[in-house]
Amino acid sequence: MSTKNNTMQNVWLVTGGAGFIGSNFVRMARAHQWASIINLDKLTYAGNLANLENLQQDKGHVFVHGDIGDRALVQRILHDHRPQAIIHFAAESHVDRSIKDPRDFFDTNVIGTFNLLGEARGYWNSLKDENKKVFRFLNVSTDEVYGSLGVDEAPFHERTPYAPNSPYAASKAASDHFIRAYQHTYGFPTLLTHCSNNYGPYQFPEKLIPVVILNALAGKTLPIYGDGLNVRDWLYVDDHCRALYLVLTKGRVGETYNIGGGYEVPNLKLVQEICAVLDQIKTDRRGLYSRLIQYVKDRPGHDRRYAINHAKIATELGWKPQESFETGIRKTIDWYLENKNWVEIIQNNSYKEWIHSHYENNRSAL
Ligand code: NAD
Ligand code: TYD
Repeated sequence: MSTKNNTMQNVWLVTGGAGFIGSNFVRMARAHQWASIINLDKLTYAGNLANLENLQQDKGHVFVHGDIGDRALVQRILHDHRPQAIIHFAAESHVDRSIKDPRDFFDTNVIGTFNLLGEARGYWNSLKDENKKVFRFLNVSTDEVYGSLGVDEAPFHERTPYAPNSPYAASKAASDHFIRAYQHTYGFPTLLTHCSNNYGPYQFPEKLIPVVILNALAGKTLPIYGDGLNVRDWLYVDDHCRALYLVLTKGRVGETYNIGGGYEVPNLKLVQEICAVLDQIKTDRRGLYSRLIQYVKDRPGHDRRYAINHAKIATELGWKPQESFETGIRKTIDWYLENKNWVEIIQNNSYKEWIHSHYENNRSAL
């Protein structure tokens, strides 16, 4: 892909595109030829080039190994590739890790986003007026910035006040506030989304659904934090990616859109449902998978309930989830069953070496 001239190109800069949602988005974007992609990712423990294996020969996808907080690198990418949009996924994303050690969350989610935003604004300022109108910065945030809902409270909507409870949520909230302020102060063309809990292929096995699927298949216990009655609203990752595409291409500048799967369920029930699907497709001779459920110590500050009202994106942009939980979880389980090699390289921690030997062709010349 040659994009080195002064006009803006049909190129998007995706950050964190080697992680779970980012890689699903990049694969979808390339499959539909939405744009060429520059994929900037630091390859933390959560970043895995095996997630992008089928794009190795794709000239419309360039991988850049680097940090969103590295201003010189970001500046060079923007100058050389002239993107029309930045879709910002890169983050530290796991609540339990943020409780153990919040520092990386501050460094990437707050300072990293701040640096990226600064360079993006500088680039946008340098554009001709007609290009300035087209450019967009889409920040992928989370419903966790809104805090915890009571059992009878109405789901989060776009005007729900921020009340982040975990260090992860606090760091995402801080970055959202900079996005808002840059739009309000400088007219920088931002879009902001808050999604509920995603699940689907390529999710790193530290989040609830892949932990449950893989532990069950391995005959290991299925840890349920606290009383198992914490509620989450589950969104299939492809539905999320389709929503992001709509927001990016049709959303109103400066607006926020909430994206939810419309499937609210307590953790215990969710785990029982996954066990029931597994019982049907991969019977365990030792008994039902639900026998492996085990209550464990609760997460400190564990938010009780998240739920999203996605009426705005439905009404304005015509989005609704295409997958029910039944179809989405079936696809997810099938994917984990069919991709044992992916699971294995993560579980034996060899994916960091694996990626470098398998992905030399398509590295950026930067
Ligand atoms: P993930 O942890 O799977 O992936 C994050 C990616 O960002 C990784 O590839 C990692 O290497 C990269 N990264 C981390 N620090 C970086 C840095 N400093 N510079 C460049 N790259 C860096 O996360 P995910 O689940 O794919 O989430 C993507 C985004 O969506 C995040 O911003 C997250 O807050 C948000 N989100 C996720 C969920 C969910 O259920 N997974 C829900 C709501 C919002
Ligand atoms: P998680 O997948 O970590 O997402 P988040 O904390 O962002 O919602 O957890 C989803 C829910 O499942 C949350 O209420 C915590 C709970 N949980 C467990 O009960 N056991 C587990 O092993 C994990 C990882 C999470």
